Amino acid sequence: MEVIVSPSLLSADFLNLWKDVEMVNESRADWFHLDIMDGVFVPNISYGLPVVAQIKKAARKPLDVHLMIVQPERYVEEFRKAGADILTVHLEACTHLHRTIQQIKAAGMKAGVSLNPHSPVGLLEDVIRDIDVVLLMSVNPGFGGQSFIEQTIEKVKKLKTLIQSAGAKTLIEIDGGVNFETGRRLVEAGADALVAGSFVFNSPDPKSRIEGLKNL
Ligand code: DX5
Ligand code: ZN
Repeated sequence: MEVIVSPSLLSADFLNLWKDVEMVNESRADWFHLDIMDGVFVPNISYGLPVVAQIKKAARKPLDVHLMIVQPERYVEEFRKAGADILTVHLEACTHLHRTIQQIKAAGMKAGVSLNPHSPVGLLEDVIRDIDVVLLMSVNPGFGGQSFIEQTIEKVKKLKTLIQSAGAKTLIEIDGGVNFETGRRLVEAGADALVAGSFVFNSPDPKSRIEGLKNL
């Protein structure tokens, strides 16, 4: 299967967001990765519901919404209304993760669960069949442009084994420090989807970066 590419608009030009949304529409990218930060779960604040709703009007591909917020269960319905297709919550932010996953699916979205670099993949063993996407953080969440944490490669392999032994169809998505070199090694290790922010948007030719990630 060809790798799924999900450009992160965190590194887009917010004064010309429409232009960057169009670029992703016209590119070979598969999803739009939208990073929502509350300044509590992570030490940064990004953008929220009104921006997601505006992006939805222009986007011609699914919205892959990554919630880096505490108590994400309070906002499931709001993000569905704003247009999320995949809604990802952090394991570390959910006391009742199983319930939150069911809540996301009952609202009609695909359910994603994200793990910070310190959280072992084994914590997902009892919910893996319920999850559509696992988003492994390969940096500490909060900022674009950080360098890739090497341990993620081992984590992808362990997660792949966990998914296969459970007979699940869960996709493995990686977020942080993705470029052609780390991307290629991640796909070899078993990743199905790659998020890329600064590597795409800080390039003079973002479409060719996306193209390159599709052809790793
Ligand atoms: C980090 C965000 C990422 C970020 C990735 O907290 O979740 O999606 O945009 O940025 P890069 O690709 O620059 O590491
Ligand atoms: Zn993200």
